Amino acid sequence: MDSIDHLFEAALTAQTQAYAPYSKFQVGAAIQTPKGTIYSGGNVENASYPVGVCAEASAISAMINGGERAISAIVVMGEGAELVTPCGACRQRIFEFSIETTRIHVAGPEGIRRSFFIDDLLPHAFGPGHLKAET
Ligand code: THU
Repeated sequence: MDSIDHLFEAALTAQTQAYAPYSKFQVGAAIQTPKGTIYSGGNVENASYPVGVCAEASAISAMINGGERAISAIVVMGEGAELVTPCGACRQRIFEFSIETTRIHVAGPEGIRRSFFIDDLLPHAFGPGHLKAET
C-alpha cells in the first residue's frame, strides 16, 4: 500500500469513530508527518454546541501529543457529494504546522477528490512568522 493509501484508511477509520450525534456529520482527518508517522482524529461534538472540536483539530492534537510539529500531508474525509474542505479555523490550525510542501487532500469514501496547498485555502495567512515565536 502507498503511504497515501495508509493515510486515506486512517482518515476513514477516524471518521467512523467520530462523535457527531448532533450534526450527524462525521469527519475524519489523518496527518502524515515528515518522519512518516500517521496521527488521526475525528470531530468530537458536545451538547454545548460551540465546545465541539473539528476532526483536523483532533488529529493535530494527537500529532502534538506524539511530539511532532510538522504536517507533510493531511487527508480530510467528509460525507456527501460536496468537497469537505477544512473550515476557516482549521485552515489556520493547519497553517501553524505547515511546511512548504504540505498537501491537503480532501476525500470522500471513494478516494481523494482534490488536493490543495495551504496557500490555496488560506492566502496571506497570519502565522508564527509574525510573532517570531519558537515553534
Ligand atoms: N467539521 C470538521 O470536523 N471539520 C471540518 O473541516 C468541517 C466541519 C465538523 C464540525 C462539526 O462537528 C460537523 O463537522 C458539522 O459542522
